[in-house]
Amino acid sequence: MTIETIFSVRGKAAIVTGGASGIGLAIAEALAENGAKVAIIDRDDESLAREQKRLAAAGLPVNVFVADVADREQIASASKAAIETLGGLDIVFANAGISGGYGPASTYTNSGRFENLDLAVWDRTLDVNLTGVLHTLRATLPAIKQRNGGKIIVTASIAGLRANTSIGYSYTVSKTAVVSLIKTLALELAPSNIQVNGLAPGPFITNINGGRFHDPSNAALEASSVPLRRLAEPQEIKGLALLLASNASSYITGAVIPIDGGKTAGGQ
Ligand SMILES: NC(=O)c1ccc[n+]([C@@H]2O[C@H](COP(=O)([O-])OP(=O)(O)OC[C@H]3O[C@@H](n4cnc5c(N)ncnc54)[C@H](O)[C@@H]3O)[C@@H](O)[C@H]2O)c1
Repeated sequence: MTIETIFSVRGKAAIVTGGASGIGLAIAEALAENGAKVAIIDRDDESLAREQKRLAAAGLPVNVFVADVADREQIASASKAAIETLGGLDIVFANAGISGGYGPASTYTNSGRFENLDLAVWDRTLDVNLTGVLHTLRATLPAIKQRNGGKIIVTASIAGLRANTSIGYSYTVSKTAVVSLIKTLALELAPSNIQVNGLAPGPFITNINGGRFHDPSNAALEASSVPLRRLAEPQEIKGLALLLASNASSYITGAVIPIDGGKTAGGQ
């Protein structure tokens, strides 16, 4: 078997939420580059239009739909439109997410301490990162069930695998809950031949949290805690995304796979 066969997503229909930027954009690009039919759902209409144009110019047509994943009706109607446009659904990447502010160990502010938590930030982070995943999967699962097997991939985080006091409570709690959701759903859907897995990225240079990793001093500080001593570029998600979206992962379900330069293996 060749790599082209094992990792093929050709002709598969895929939805990627939060695909107008960063990790989701790289995933959407990888799927389109390899012959999948792709729909991106994102709340940022300007970035969606810009990236759709850029991808089309590169010979990679994608369909785009505007929705906030935290709004059940918006994501339901965008998913319905996407599934109609794609002619069904084989793969969904529930990827949209936001940061939840500072952690308790921040030296910049004490707003991340437990007793100072901003409940509006807490609610919004859980609404997007956790309930948004629930809404996305409920809106897309019936279409995936109509196929003979399918793939659900959720973007968790290494912050959902172990405590990290430099990251806000709402974010780590949301991602820990997402890890639990991935595993439980994987068990429920195993008899339906639908695999459910998670990506657990470490630090990637994206626009999350105000794009703070674009700042070289922030990036250098973060890189010092990574065994590979650097941050990841968004395109470095592509290999793992294709693995989990294709037959190459035919015996993987309920797994949440770190892609983190070694951080969870024992970095600081
Ligand atoms: N960058 C990292 O270091 C890192 C690390 C671990 C996990 N993650 C996770 O990766 C995922 C993607 O983040 P990223 O780093 O690429 O960030 P990003 O900000 O570059 O991209 C996130 C995209 O999601 C969209 N989005 C945000 N909230 C949304 C909502 N409510 N509805 C619809 N779209 C929404 C944004 O408009 C944006 O296009 C997130 O789930 C994030 O938690 C990122």
